[in-house]
Amino acid sequence: MKAVVIRQHGEIGELAYETSWPDPVAGEGEVVIAVSACALNYHDLFTLRGMPGIKIPMPIIMGIDVAGEIAEVGPGVSDWKVGDRVMVDPLDTETGRLLGERMDGGLAEYCKVGAHMLVPMPEGVSFREAAALPVAYGTAYRMMVTRGKVAADEKLLVLGASGGVGTCCVQLGRLAGAHVIAAASTPEKLARLAEIGAHEGIDYKADDFMKVVHERHGKPRVYGAGAGSGGVDVVVNFTGGETWVPSLRVVRQGGRILTCGATAGFDPKTDLRYIWTFEIDIRGSNAWERGDLFALLDLVQEKRLAPTIDCALPLKETPTAFSRLAERNVFGKIIIESHR
Ligand SMILES: NC(=O)c1ccc[n+]([C@@H]2O[C@H](COP(=O)([O-])OP(=O)(O)OC[C@H]3O[C@@H](n4cnc5c(N)ncnc54)[C@H](OP(=O)(O)O)[C@@H]3O)[C@@H](O)[C@H]2O)c1
Repeated sequence: MKAVVIRQHGEIGELAYETSWPDPVAGEGEVVIAVSACALNYHDLFTLRGMPGIKIPMPIIMGIDVAGEIAEVGPGVSDWKVGDRVMVDPLDTETGRLLGERMDGGLAEYCKVGAHMLVPMPEGVSFREAAALPVAYGTAYRMMVTRGKVAADEKLLVLGASGGVGTCCVQLGRLAGAHVIAAASTPEKLARLAEIGAHEGIDYKADDFMKVVHERHGKPRVYGAGAGSGGVDVVVNFTGGETWVPSLRVVRQGGRILTCGATAGFDPKTDLRYIWTFEIDIRGSNAWERGDLFALLDLVQEKRLAPTIDCALPLKETPTAFSRLAERNVFGKIIIESHR
């Protein structure tokens, strides 16, 4: 089969497009999927480059988010048949392994998974839409809804709003009835964020987002006249790095910061004074549960949520897609279609 393979950690030059890689064969309890769509995530760049403490088996086919049709059913699988349209829940809760990270993923024509990882695709949901969901939308759903409890009329600031997780946070914030302030690095991205539901935008490359929030919404106050006023109720920050301390300084008293990642650095400087003085609730969120994926599929089927898809590219153009992720030249999800 055709597949994009890495044999060692490094940069985008390590991505090798192979045209005669061995086809996977379904073993006991497994199925092989003909991959129709595979969505990329920033996590694929972390896998490519290597992460402290995580040993990636080499060679590996990356690609965490997969949707397609079942092409082969292995022994012992009774609930699924060839031709079923499926999305994969990429986190194998039986082994703790992630598809495309510690087992071969979807950047190939075929992909083998345990049948317990399959999620049926409802009518009316496309392969592109389904592939866009698990990692970015699943994580955003858990962070915004289950853990974050973002509610109507809350002021919500989303940093990194233009990416996969970010666009979903904007869309879910809007669905919850929050006032959504989206921060991104270009005016073009901000214009598109307004189209998908942001009420306000901040170009945080041109302007200091902390100052802009203080100007527009006031400085958070804890004493005297106006105590409890100013700032935003919730900041979504999966960027870390230099955005961390300014994020602490825009949250109102008793507000919360939601985090699920650290694209720009996981060990930022912090400022404890703001955390205790303003009683900030810092809430971590990791991955998703199967129920989150069903909830998202329902929202898509009901046309209440349209996954934000930047573009769809053929498998051979995977290195171009990775370059776009690395250069922050992406809005929503990039989909790879290996059968084109
Ligand atoms: N814990 C979990 O289960 C989980 C699941 C999914 C994702 N994550 C994490 O969440 C983060 C976002 O993932 P994603 O797939 O949504 O990424 P993405 O699509 O690449 O979007 C990230 C956005 O962050 C902004 N950004 C700010 N500083 C950046 C930097 N130094 N490098 C790159 N982008 C930067 C960029 O927008 P601007 O150019 O507009 O600033 C970019 O579009 C990642 O750190 C990822 O590992 C965690």
